[in-house]
Amino acid sequence: MELRIEKVNEKKAKPDYDNLTFGAHFTDHMFVMDYHEDEGWHDARIVPYAPLEMDPASIVFHYGQAVFEGLKAYPSSDHALLFRPDKNFQRLNTSNERMNIPPVDERFLVDALKQLVQLDQDWLPNQEGQSLYIRPFIIGTEAALSVKPAAQYKLMIILSPVGAYYTGGDQLSPVSIYVEDDFVRSVRGGVGFAKTAGNYAASLKAQMNAATYGYDQVLWLDAVEKRYIEEVGSMNIFFKINGEVYTPPLNGSILPGITRDSVIELIRYWGYTIREEPITVDEVIAAHQNGELEEVFGTGTAAVISPVGILKWKDEEITINENKAGKLALDLYDTITSIQTGSQTDSFGWTK
Ligand code: COI
Repeated sequence: MELRIEKVNEKKAKPDYDNLTFGAHFTDHMFVMDYHEDEGWHDARIVPYAPLEMDPASIVFHYGQAVFEGLKAYPSSDHALLFRPDKNFQRLNTSNERMNIPPVDERFLVDALKQLVQLDQDWLPNQEGQSLYIRPFIIGTEAALSVKPAAQYKLMIILSPVGAYYTGGDQLSPVSIYVEDDFVRSVRGGVGFAKTAGNYAASLKAQMNAATYGYDQVLWLDAVEKRYIEEVGSMNIFFKINGEVYTPPLNGSILPGITRDSVIELIRYWGYTIREEPITVDEVIAAHQNGELEEVFGTGTAAVISPVGILKWKDEEITINENKAGKLALDLYDTITSIQTGSQTDSFGWTK
């Protein structure tokens, strides 16, 4: 497929890079590609960033047929570095499959993304903890109110210069977590493993409740027994207990995080035992009581590594590692961000 490029006549003013809010500013250009059941994916183009005109009956507005991705680019001496973009487009196709959206050509999109980032490279931030956040997404655009997969879609990629994900400055200051025992994020057989918009809409109520109780994020438990730990906020979760590292296995209700995958590879490379095993909230509390709970942290593209300092479960509130980032979390953050920014040799072949 050909890629048409239409450049802006005049570039926008840049935001204040000393005060970047996550996902609030967008670059000069965007990538767009359309799908029609008779033509397949077609008309790939990079065009000036602009609002969309859409039919109010578009299926995405009514039945939520939408998937998305998130990845980051960092400035480097010759070209911008993308972190594992192949994995994101692979996962986009996994989400597509579940949401009945036609598959995309992963290699074509990685290449188109590189051209988009190249064109807007003057937007790449270069301060510590900053990056260009990349948001590919697909929406069902067919105007139809019958419940069915759309016959038309739009795939777009927009770019946003970002700072730390959590407001309050320090990327690695620990977050406090409320263990949610009423609402659930997803069920096996549902769409938890897919990066689909509705999962995030469904998480908002619990997130707002946790904030009301004074906690930063929600810890999600499994939907059946409400015992097994699944995710934290919109991130995967890891526990270091007595020298070993635990994370819930990808069982269908958990998002297969690319940072999760990178963390597992690094931890293994460093010689730790990594256990992708179901773990209950009671086991975590017991480990804390025995003095064996060393660290808890979340992993995700936006925050990279997010240490957990406080965990609230029913009547109990525990403080982990004196509410400080632990050594493993700090080492992982330093190593992953150094590979992402090109300041450390990428022996895993992650940057593209
Ligand atoms: C992540 O990158 O950790 C996320 O999934 C958050 C994103 C939806 C902003």
